Amino acid sequence: MKKILFVCLGNICRSPGAEGIMKDLVRKNRRDANFYIDSAGLYGGHAGALPDARMRKHASMRGYSLDSRARAFYPSADFLEFDMIIGMDEQNIRQLNLLAENDEERTKIFRMTDFCRKDTEYKEVPDPYYEGADGFELVLDLLEDAVGGLYEYCSKK
Ligand code: 4NP
Repeated sequence: MKKILFVCLGNICRSPGAEGIMKDLVRKNRRDANFYIDSAGLYGGHAGALPDARMRKHASMRGYSLDSRARAFYPSADFLEFDMIIGMDEQNIRQLNLLAENDEERTKIFRMTDFCRKDTEYKEVPDPYYEGADGFELVLDLLEDAVGGLYEYCSKK
């Protein structure tokens, strides 16, 4: 059983998107028993909320139904519980590294775009919150590519 936690700032746009895409891929491959997937936000102010309406709309246009509820990242519990903690951007990674208490925890931190398979200029999944429709489409393009790469990575090991 591989336990994966996707992390962004608010847990209402990028990380619930990654969670929904990964869960869909795992389900399609009948690997539900091999994965536990969740997401969390480094800022807990949206706790309890559904993903942002724009994120849900753009995800549903690609066949994903996002129905997770936002929650804060809990350093002590989450570093213990999860095998991989995957941040979306530079700021997320920096913050996760500051919250990690030892090297064992630090080795669990990964960057979403490191799993991208397509040649892309993007070294992070950019925050779409203050962007328009294009920003959400870009997030979904990057997440679909990176989640596919992550699934391959996990299936090889
Ligand atoms: P996310 O996007 O980190 O992808 O969920 C954001 C959501 C909310 C805020 C920032 C980014 N916010 O400032 O409230």
